[in-house]
Amino acid sequence: MKLAERMSRIGVESAFDVLVRARALEAQGRSVIHLEIGEPDFDTPRHIVEAAKKALDEGWTHYGPTQGLPELREAIAAYVSRTRGIAVGPQQVSVVPGGKPIIFFPMLALLEPGDKVIYPNPGFPIYESMIRYLGATPVAMPLEEKRGFSFDLDLFRSHLTDGTKMVVLNSPQNPTGGVIPRQDIEALADMLRDRDVMVLSDEIYSRIAYGTEPPVSIASFPGMLEKTIILDGFSKTYAMTGWRMGYGVMPAWLVDAVNKLMVNSNSCTASFTQRAGIAALTGPQDCVDRMVTEFRRRRDAICAGLNRIPGFRCALPGGAFYAFANVTGTGMRSKELADFLLYEAGVSCLDGGCFGEYGSGYVRFSYANSLENLMEAVQRIRKAAARWEPAAVGKG
Ligand SMILES: Cc1ncc(COP(=O)(O)O)c(C=O)c1O
Repeated sequence: MKLAERMSRIGVESAFDVLVRARALEAQGRSVIHLEIGEPDFDTPRHIVEAAKKALDEGWTHYGPTQGLPELREAIAAYVSRTRGIAVGPQQVSVVPGGKPIIFFPMLALLEPGDKVIYPNPGFPIYESMIRYLGATPVAMPLEEKRGFSFDLDLFRSHLTDGTKMVVLNSPQNPTGGVIPRQDIEALADMLRDRDVMVLSDEIYSRIAYGTEPPVSIASFPGMLEKTIILDGFSKTYAMTGWRMGYGVMPAWLVDAVNKLMVNSNSCTASFTQRAGIAALTGPQDCVDRMVTEFRRRRDAICAGLNRIPGFRCALPGGAFYAFANVTGTGMRSKELADFLLYEAGVSCLDGGCFGEYGSGYVRFSYANSLENLMEAVQRIRKAAARWEPAAVGKG
């Protein structure tokens, strides 16, 4: 049987492939430090787990409303209104199984073949995968290391045409850890306000940021709320990747479309996990603060360590839990280097090229691992660096 033609255009997420290769090495008895996978290494906070157990005992084991439990949608609306400085209600909230469906469903609902979508490159691979899958045209916006991995705004303006149907923003960003500064978001809002476009603002890392000001949402600028789909969820903020629970905040007309796609695919998000979601959003938040404090400590340590490796240059990321090191100075291609680090040094990381063509020349290290393991990884890489050092010196 032949697969549908569109399946030739769908992509995958390389982190999972690299994880499989790393696990195969471990099965042969090799020691591997895992810096490839993008999930907090912390346990889900206790009070959230207890809320889920209680919900199971209380019988939250049946279908619920497609859009999400009203009480959870109320809690999400209040949380998003508070954290973004906007006013949204539960009718603008869609609860779905993870953050990813808020890429999948709104794109499925909005994009026609040929529509242009501007998206960050390097970026989360699912954006480009879905754009291509739907027959729309991906327009890659390179992220600029010298601008803290933000866009070149003049280039953005030149890419914007009447055919642009959607713009994808992601801040804090995967894989670079970049945070788009307020003035850039404001400039983007000014360029988009009077256009017939939707912005998919992926804010899944919104709470994992290290600056004095929280990351800014484009939805908070005048006229932008009705053009924006905010993607957020529980996976990163509350270390709940395996629970599969996320949400979108978007205009009510788009919620209706997402509801139809949800009822055709999932019926609803699991009921007892949604009860735990209420506990996450309305309960104590010191668990998040503690996690971010620890991530900051690790970020500082791994970036300092990577910057001491010949041929590596690593900017201090403003958010998320990824260090995105420029490795062009090693004289090796980033794909070869990532393989070399896995097979020769026992450090599993991702070639920046997995995140799009403009990611080549970089390697992503997820610092969702203990400080001790991170320091061991840096030691292993330093030792392995003897093999490329001459090239680095040669390249200056
Ligand atoms: C930028 C970005 N958006 C969305 C997601 C998806 O999150 P979830 O696991 O909740 O589907 C991820 C996960 O890695 C991500 O990095």
